[in-house]
Parts: sequence; C-alpha cells; structure tokens
Amino acid sequence: MTQLKRRDFLRAVGATAGAGTLFATMGALGLAPTAAAAARQAPFQAPRAGDFTLTGRSAAEVVVLGGGIAGLTTAYELGKAGYACTVLEARERTGGRNFTVRGGDTTVDLYGNRQTARFSEGQYMNAGPARIAQWMITLDYCRELGVPVEVFTNVNADAYLFNQSAGMTRPMRYRTAKADMFGYVSELLAKATDSGALDKALTTDDRDRLVEFLKDYGDLGDSLDYTGSSRRGYSVYPGAAGTPGVEYGDLPTASEIFATGVGRYFAFEFEFDQAMLMFQPVGGMDRIPHALTQAVGAHKIRTGCAVSGITDRAGGVTVAYTQGGRARTIDADYCVAAMPPNLLAKVPHNLGTGVQSALEAITPSSAGKIGLEYSSRWWETDHHIYGGITETDLDVTHIWHPSHGFHGERGVIIGYYNTGAAADSYAALSPAAREKRAVEAGVRIYGDAYRTELASSFSHHWRQFPYQEAAWHTTPDGPDAPRYKPLNEPTGHVYFAGDWLSHLDAWQHGAFASARKAVTALHQRVLNSRA
Ligand code: ALA
Repeated sequence: MTQLKRRDFLRAVGATAGAGTLFATMGALGLAPTAAAAARQAPFQAPRAGDFTLTGRSAAEVVVLGGGIAGLTTAYELGKAGYACTVLEARERTGGRNFTVRGGDTTVDLYGNRQTARFSEGQYMNAGPARIAQWMITLDYCRELGVPVEVFTNVNADAYLFNQSAGMTRPMRYRTAKADMFGYVSELLAKATDSGALDKALTTDDRDRLVEFLKDYGDLGDSLDYTGSSRRGYSVYPGAAGTPGVEYGDLPTASEIFATGVGRYFAFEFEFDQAMLMFQPVGGMDRIPHALTQAVGAHKIRTGCAVSGITDRAGGVTVAYTQGGRARTIDADYCVAAMPPNLLAKVPHNLGTGVQSALEAITPSSAGKIGLEYSSRWWETDHHIYGGITETDLDVTHIWHPSHGFHGERGVIIGYYNTGAAADSYAALSPAAREKRAVEAGVRIYGDAYRTELASSFSHHWRQFPYQEAAWHTTPDGPDAPRYKPLNEPTGHVYFAGDWLSHLDAWQHGAFASARKAVTALHQRVLNSRA
C-alpha cells in the first residue's frame, strides 16, 4: 500500500468505526504496536553467567563465521554468559566492512590492484560505514565499549550542489538552493491558496494558517511574492556598521531554479536514518570493531581463516576452513554464520535447499570511495565549508568534507562516494586513473586547489574486494519474507546474522540488531535444552 493510500484508508476507518477500531486496524497493518509485535521487540537482555544458576545447564561452544560487526557482537554478547566462542575471520583484521584506512594500510582488490595508503599521521578515511544516527544501537555499543564519538556533519548549508547536466557551470550553496526552491514553492502554494484553488480541501482558518506558514517558510512578502532573501547567502559577508554585506545576486526565476534539479537533494535529510545530528567515532569508525575485538579477546578470533564447509550433525556442527593454505576443521555445539550472504552461498553445506535459495536470493550491491588527502584545508579557508556533503550529478556523486580536524594542517576529502554502475566503472580503472577522474570532477566544482593541493589518494570498492564482494545487499521483499525463514530461524545448530537479515541493511545498527536476535534465540535454546 502506498503511503498516501494507506493514510486515506486509515482516515476512512477512523471516521466510521471510531478510535478503538482504528488502533486495531493500525496494529494489523503493522503501524501500531500489537502485543505480539511488542513482545518481539522486547528490549535486548544480554546473556549473563547467572542465567545458568539453578538450571543445571552451562554455556555452550559456539563457532562464529565472520569477524565483522555481527560476528564480533555475537561473540561479545555470548561471552558475557561464559560461552566459549571462536570467531573465524578470512581477512587479517576484524571489522568486515567497517574499515578505516590509515597510512601504511595495504589492500589488493579482485582485479589485482595493490594500494598502500600514504595518508599522513592522524589522517584516515572510513571506507565503509561513516555515519551513525542518534537512535542507532551503534551508539549504545560506543557508550558501552567506551568509544568516544563526535558529530558527523551530514548536511551543511554551506556545502555545494552541482548538477552539470542541467547546465550549471558553478556550484550553488545548499542554503541558496533551499531558499530559492522553498521560496518559489511557498509563493505558488500561497497564491493558489489565497486565490481559492484549495477551498474544497481547506476551511477559511486552514487557509489563513497555511498562508501564514508559507510566508514564514518561504520568506515571502505581504504580496506573497518571493523576491530573494538573505537566506540565500552573501558574496561579501555582513560586518561592522557601514558594511552590510552583499547578498548573492542573480536571483533565478522559479522556472530556472526548478530546471537546475537541485530540489532533489533536500529530502535526504528528512530520512529517518540520515537526519542530523549524526555521529562518528573519534579517530575512525574502526574504533568500534577494535573495542569489540578487545572485549571478545583477540585469542578467540582466528584471522586468515576462510570458511570452506558447514556440516550440521547430531549434537553440533563442524566447520571446515583453510588457514595459510592448510585445511582445518572446528567442532562446536552451535554456529552463528555472520558472513556476507553472497559468499556464504558459495560455501558447501548440508543445511538444505531452503537455506541455499534464500542466500542466493539476496544480491550484492556496489559502492566505492576515494580518500583524497590535501596538504591544506582549502575548503575551510577558501570556501568556508566545515564538514558536510557536496551533492553532484557527476559520477563522483557525493563529495564529503571531513567532520573532524577542523583548522588542522591537512585533511582527507572523500572525493567520491558512489554506488551501482558509477562505482563499478571507477573500480575497473587503475587507482591512478580513479584519482585523475575524481580530481577532474572536483576541479569543476571547487577550482584548481582540488588538484594542486592534493597529496595522495586511496580508493576502495567493496564489490571488488576479497571476502566481501559487496558494499551491502538487496534482500528482495524484506528480511521477513517467508523465503528467508530458514535464515531467520536456526537450521539445525546453525544460526544466521548480519545487517542483510535486518530492516537496516547497509547500517551497523542492522548488524548489531541481527546479532542480538541470534544471541537471544541461541541462549534461550541452551537454557531450555535438557541438562
Ligand atoms: N548506510 C550507508 C550510508 O549511510 C548506506 O551511506
């Protein structure tokens, strides 16, 4: 049901049947908490050693496949109750897609491109997750693990918008684009309202209140015209008496501002997962897996171990893996598979066709980033941009200014954060060619400093990266569709976890939430099992 139809439907139900029926109907549609839904969403209770007191049972052995956020969280939470967890991680480091690149870090992608980052001391790029909303479980883990956080600037009035395909030759400040779009839209709606076009939908009071709102929202005059506004910004900033500043000139017409297409960028900040304020760990996103790894105990995590087989058997599970070219196995009572589903689907197992077809239904997505380290912070000094994102219709798509290190000597700009075909086309280039293409795009927006101040770059593409081969995943019909039942419930002694099995894929929150679900189910089963 579309949002609008659903709202109309609910209004109709409310009008004829009363509030009780409305609430029950909302519950049935999943819009209001039913008792069952509330029970499913009971606050997470971490397993405790004390849970086993008087039960005659004890914690079990668990092998966790994958040392990303879901895998580490599984081992961390089960470890609180004394479970003996072993994490198998294919790479030499934990964190999965949570990957912070610093000077000296080396990667080799599936095309064979080897890169070693040359970022200076203290500089880094978050190649994977880079922002956290205030309501996300991720922040709860930061608090619990003692990972300090700072504000991540997701939207900045002084960052730029640049749509080359609309004929823009210069970038426009976010604030200017907003002032003009909101101004003209308000003018049109206010005049339509004032002339009676909405009389069928509005009472006289509604009309007056709507026009009052629009005058304020769009900065309209009493004639309801939008004639520009100081909200657009200044080419010369206001100062002392005698220097009132110079407002940006060249006020476009409504038609001209619509034609730029800049309006398409504004809804981003209304999204539940992207609205300011947002946060990032101080010093790099990998402070989270670093803290989790320490809390789990590094000796419980076997790196360089690629899983090659999963066999569910009577009383437990056997996992085959290779380490340093040698085939090994590990036996455990239970397994939590927290690897990327696209790679899990390639691992031989005896978990049935339901598991296999569910894994194969989930498809990998592409995304890439390039970190450009500059020897000066010219975007602060020359453009007065401190953090935030410049949005473009170029194939670099998003350009991120760093949200930390303000007024420092150097900084790393994310020169592209792109997805899909744009990401794949950059991935197919050599790292040097990626840098060249990204810099050419940036010069069009920011001018020559984008090239002349560049010190070094590092690019990363998840779809082409070993042991990940995806930036995130598409789970058709959502994780609660019946076909994913064999993944959402244990199959034999094997549980599954990952952001791809959550309603927040591509977010660490989803990985944390999914791990908690697997941990809760596994712990309940152990507590309820026969002693
Ligand atoms: N969660 C990812 C982002 O914020 C997709 O870009």
